[in-house]
Amino acid sequence: MAAQPRVLLTTPWPTRAVEAMREHFEVDIHDGPLPMPEAKWLDAVQEYDAIAPTVIDQIPAAAYHGAQNRTKILGNFGVGYNHIDMAAANTGGVVVSNTPGVLTDATADQAVGLMLAVARGISLGDWKIRAGQWKGWNPTDSLGTHVTGATLGIIGFGRIGQAMAKRCHFGFDMPVVFHNRSKIDPALAQALGAKQLDSMDDVLSAADFVSLHCPGGGGNRHLMNADRFKAMKPSAFLINTARGDIVDEAALVHALKSGELAGAGLDVFEDEPRVHPELPKLLNCVLNPHLGSATESTRTDMGLMVFRNLLAFFNGQPLPNAVTQ
Ligand code: DGY
Repeated sequence: MAAQPRVLLTTPWPTRAVEAMREHFEVDIHDGPLPMPEAKWLDAVQEYDAIAPTVIDQIPAAAYHGAQNRTKILGNFGVGYNHIDMAAANTGGVVVSNTPGVLTDATADQAVGLMLAVARGISLGDWKIRAGQWKGWNPTDSLGTHVTGATLGIIGFGRIGQAMAKRCHFGFDMPVVFHNRSKIDPALAQALGAKQLDSMDDVLSAADFVSLHCPGGGGNRHLMNADRFKAMKPSAFLINTARGDIVDEAALVHALKSGELAGAGLDVFEDEPRVHPELPKLLNCVLNPHLGSATESTRTDMGLMVFRNLLAFFNGQPLPNAVTQ
């Protein structure tokens, strides 16, 4: 019997997805410090046929030399792949797959949660009770911002942006405006109660809530900067469940402190797991530790999707979710 392909997971996965992998591959799981250290990466690309990284991995340049290395495929556990150097992978002949679709609902749910949490003081209210600070109901205590009927602005109208529009339009009667690099079919947009505007600044100035759903990295780094915060209403909120580097965190802190922006709900940060030291001090933001896809079923589905891509690769079949860029 031919030896099974050797696969390394750079971090532990949900059990069911690991079990599926183990039926077809010889699987090892890195259980040392995270992210997986460079020295371990350099050994791993000589020892494993496939490596399954995640968003936290810092992948050394040598990992992309597929012609010389044993590792020919990176099966990314996640839809975003801005931590993978696609140019180097293409040049070195390393195939890359990702996990689109399965985390759309979980991530949009989280974005809605952050929007409500920051606008209605849900996190702050929870903290007040836990800290013994609640003095009882009164008509002016902890007044938040009304969400139903407010205008939602979406930056990036892909799967997750559309799922956010759907939830907010049909759930909260919110008019939705959006910015997307390419033109979206107006009929599709209309079915979600959404309208594509000419420029990003048009969206920013119209919205009461701005939710980011574009990829990180490349030209999107600091897409939300000091000028863009000035373009938003001072009463508006920023929600980010996409990637931390889309937001200039220092400029955001300034906007939140100076009253240029009413608040922010953040699930992702520029330099994870480091968070700008001022953010936790601000009461007008809600902070989550990159939980967008963090449900048991979603993370299992992500692992199963990596598995199906590796299986196709080792069977010589087209990858269901090849990253082509
Ligand atoms: C994704 O899938 O991109 C999530 O952010 C986790 O990496």
